[in-house]
Amino acid sequence: MASPIKCFELNTGAKIPSVGLGTWQSSPGLVGDAVAAAVKIGYRHIDCAQLYANEKEIGAVLKKLFEDNVVKREELFITSKLWCTDHDPQDVPEALNKTLQDLQLDYVDLYLMHWPVRMKKGAVGINLLPVDIPSTWKAMEALYDSGKARAIGVSNFSTKKLADLLELARVPPAVNQVECHPSWKQTKLREFCKSKGVHLSAYSPLGSPGTTGLKSDVLKNPTLNMVAEKLGKSPAQVALRWGLQMGHSVLPKSTNDGRMRENFDVFDWSIPDDLFVKFSGIEQTRSVIDGSFFVHETLSPYKSLEELWDGEI
Ligand code: A2P
Repeated sequence: MASPIKCFELNTGAKIPSVGLGTWQSSPGLVGDAVAAAVKIGYRHIDCAQLYANEKEIGAVLKKLFEDNVVKREELFITSKLWCTDHDPQDVPEALNKTLQDLQLDYVDLYLMHWPVRMKKGAVGINLLPVDIPSTWKAMEALYDSGKARAIGVSNFSTKKLADLLELARVPPAVNQVECHPSWKQTKLREFCKSKGVHLSAYSPLGSPGTTGLKSDVLKNPTLNMVAEKLGKSPAQVALRWGLQMGHSVLPKSTNDGRMRENFDVFDWSIPDDLFVKFSGIEQTRSVIDGSFFVHETLSPYKSLEELWDGEI
């Protein structure tokens, strides 16, 4: 059966499936079953990261899915991310090798710098070093040249940091993966990405309702709920469909079979124009990850959130 999934085109010419399965906060013991179920539902894009500490389990499941002919490697789009402790150029290829070993793959479809933040090797708490994005990016470009990363990109980059990178990049980033949902639309960044051919990919597209201490509950937004009721869809489906119609890929995390199905049922209907315009009135808050754990007066090169996000906060 052909997958109904729609794709966006990257500046490499590759196609990125518009809905991917997020795996941040997917517990070990659950994430493997979730990936297997997602692929059987029709998902073709899995968003991983070394930081999520679950790539080994995902790798074992991918291997089994290939062996059982459920899906072929070339039909999947696998993303992973370079953690902040591996920014030194000599550590970058090692970090990807570790991810490839854990995922039991020869290549990833997309490899992202997880944050514009450099930490001491092995560091866990806040103790940051000055960033040297040009040097790290050169090492990322070498991974692209080697074919082990078929596309390279960034995550959590402000418009300014992305612009600075584009100035010096030999291989321009294909993607900037950032928090994005109807309550944090990333209007400035989105327009800049579009003008430069960088694809915007949305993490926490539902506003991460399972995370505690958030600044807003995206799925409870009255506009979202009004649209959902009118269309006979769930607020989560409308939030995801809004993202697709805005032109970005969405990476909803779930380990629940019913919710994974619900989140994938967003291709054969759309939000009509008269309802789509209502989203422009939604109050904007960076709700899920503001990066404050990377901000410190003395121990970080970013003394304030203003500096980390270059004012986009
Ligand atoms: P669960 O894994 O139990 O389904 P985000 O992708 O924005 O970070 O959100 C992830 C959170 O949203 C998880 O807590 C996930 O829980 C929950 N979730 C995923 N899909 C849905 C849905 N369709 N409706 C409500 N909550 C959802």
